[in-house]
Amino acid sequence: MAILEIKNVSKDFDGVKALDNLSFDLREDQITALVGPNGAGKTTLFNVITGFQETDSGTVVYKSAPLTHLAPHKISRMGIARTFQNIRLFSHLTVLENLMLARKYETGERLSSALLRSRKMLNEEKINQQRTIELLEEVGLSHKKDALGNELSHGQRRLIEFARVKAMDAQLLLLDEPTAGVFPEMIAAIKKMILNLKEMGKTVLFIEHDMKVVMDIADRVIVLNHGKVIADGSPMEIQNNEEVITAYLGRRRNNVS
Ligand SMILES: Nc1ncnc2c1ncn2[C@@H]1O[C@H](COP(=O)(O)OP(=O)(O)O)[C@@H](O)[C@H]1O
Ligand SMILES: [Mg+2]
Repeated sequence: MAILEIKNVSKDFDGVKALDNLSFDLREDQITALVGPNGAGKTTLFNVITGFQETDSGTVVYKSAPLTHLAPHKISRMGIARTFQNIRLFSHLTVLENLMLARKYETGERLSSALLRSRKMLNEEKINQQRTIELLEEVGLSHKKDALGNELSHGQRRLIEFARVKAMDAQLLLLDEPTAGVFPEMIAAIKKMILNLKEMGKTVLFIEHDMKVVMDIADRVIVLNHGKVIADGSPMEIQNNEEVITAYLGRRRNNVS
C-alpha cells in the first residue's frame, strides 16, 4: 500500500521550477533514497510534504488524507517527522531540554497549556523526560544529556536529530542529508540507525549525496533533476542508468554531490 502519494506537484520560485509536475508513490516499510544534483528540488519536496511550503498545484496525500493547507505541526501529528539539512538546536539549552522542547513543539502544545500544568501533566513530563533519556541512550549520547547544544560536534548534532525524529513516534521519516559533513565512523552508525528504523516498521525517505550510503541501505532510489523524476528503481538499476550519469556529468560517479 502507498503510504505517501505525490500527485502532480509543482512549486515555482521566481520562474525557477523547483518541482515540476512531480508524481510518485512511496510504499510502506521501505527505505527510499532521494538523490539528484544541487538545486534539483529535494529539500523543496520535503518542505512541501511537511507543510513548510505550499504547493502551487498538485497534492500530497498521506495515508489517503490530502495534506493541502495543513500546518507543519498538524502534519507532524499525523505521523510524518523530518530532519533538517541545517540542524536546529538551541545553543543555550541542554541536549535533554532541546529534545523535550522539540517533542512538545512538534506535537503542537500551546504555551498556555504548558503554563497551566496539572499533576497529570507533570506526570506526563516525567514520562517524556524518561523517554527522551532512553532515546539518547539509543543514539549513544546519554552521557551528553546535560551538555549545551553548542558544545556538540557536528556528528553528535546529527545523532540528536535522529533522537528527535524517533521521539516523535512517526510512521514516515524524512531525513535531509543525514550523513552530510560527518566522519566515516559516524556514517556507519547513521546507516545502522536508518536500517533500524526500517526494522521498526517505519517508512524512510532520505536525501543523500553519498552514493555508497545509498547503495548500502536503500531499497529504492528516486533521482530528481530540475524538479522531475528522471529515474526510479533499485540501487543497481540506478547506478547504470545513462540519464542519471549524464545529469551528474562532470562529477565523480561515486560521489554525486
Ligand atoms: N525559499 C526559496 N526561495 C527561492 N528559491 C528557492 C527557495 N528554496 C529553493 N529555491 C530554489 O529552488 C531550487 C530547488 O532547491 P532545493 O529544493 O533546495 O534543491 P536541493 O535540495 O535538491 O539542492 C533551487 O533552484 C533553489 O535555488
Ligand atoms: Mg537540499
